[in-house]
Amino acid sequence: MNHFLDINKTDPETLRSILTQAQVTKDARQGLPKGTPDADQPLANHMVALIFEKPSTRTRTSFDVGVRQMGGQTMVLSGSDMQLGHGETIADTARVLSRYVDLIMIRTFEEETLLELAEHATVPVINGLTNRTHPCQIMADIMTFEEHRGPIVGKKVVWCGDGNNVCASFLHGAQQFGFDFTFTGPQTLEPEAEFMAAARKAGSKVIVERDPFKAVEGADLIVADTWVSMHDSQTTKERRHNQLRPYQVNDDLMAAAGEQALFMHCLPAHREEEVTSSVMDGPQSVIFDEAENRLHAQKAIMRWCVNG
Ligand code: CP
Ligand code: NVA
Repeated sequence: MNHFLDINKTDPETLRSILTQAQVTKDARQGLPKGTPDADQPLANHMVALIFEKPSTRTRTSFDVGVRQMGGQTMVLSGSDMQLGHGETIADTARVLSRYVDLIMIRTFEEETLLELAEHATVPVINGLTNRTHPCQIMADIMTFEEHRGPIVGKKVVWCGDGNNVCASFLHGAQQFGFDFTFTGPQTLEPEAEFMAAARKAGSKVIVERDPFKAVEGADLIVADTWVSMHDSQTTKERRHNQLRPYQVNDDLMAAAGEQALFMHCLPAHREEEVTSSVMDGPQSVIFDEAENRLHAQKAIMRWCVNG
């Protein structure tokens, strides 16, 4: 079963072939209206369930559009409207949905929910974000980096702020695609040691640097994300903001990095918090290419899920 659960659970050759496919399909669509079907229709006659237990703009829209471009049909389900939100087990939900649909994408809270769904589903399952990781995002990010700067292998990626789910998937990316990764942020918000150790073991240089200005020196890519994720308690907001303020990505930090550094953010962003508008809308930012590439990368992921 070709589940797409995490970047570290999919082998590097498959990940690379997915990105190659994503670029081919993207290039073939240049200039066409968004609703134009792709030349080939790998999801023809396929039904895809998109389950959301958390809010979403990009994931929801890009999966929905992508399925339609590839000839399939979608059904967008909100966790709270399903019996899943009212006590039905995830295992039973998986068994039932597998009788109706050919592919399931889920955005949920606990990683356990995703893993249990995948264990009991008899159709492929895609991780559309959990509290712990966000693999589709990083596939789009690597695609975006390589469009602008060529192969990411050996490049220096710097994560500024909270070592959260998106950061974790970046570390998986370092492990599988061979780039170096520097985390700069407070000690209490460092990424899980397990993820850093795995990337190091695979040969990536993984550094934790408390000083953001030192961290970004020579960076090829600087990445920020919200200081308070959807699963974080709002009661931690003020403390997190106080801790994370020194790690804001602003013009001074980008200048310390140098002109070669790109800026990415998975979005949604909180302008003037984790990043200033001057950086988001500035010449080094590729945030909207990054958002667009969610569509292309996920289409290639879905194609691999159903066809191998
Ligand atoms: N980046 C991302 O996953 O955005 P959404 O929360 O809007 O899906
Ligand atoms: N870290 C963020 C990413 C949103 C796409 C969150 O989990 O809320």
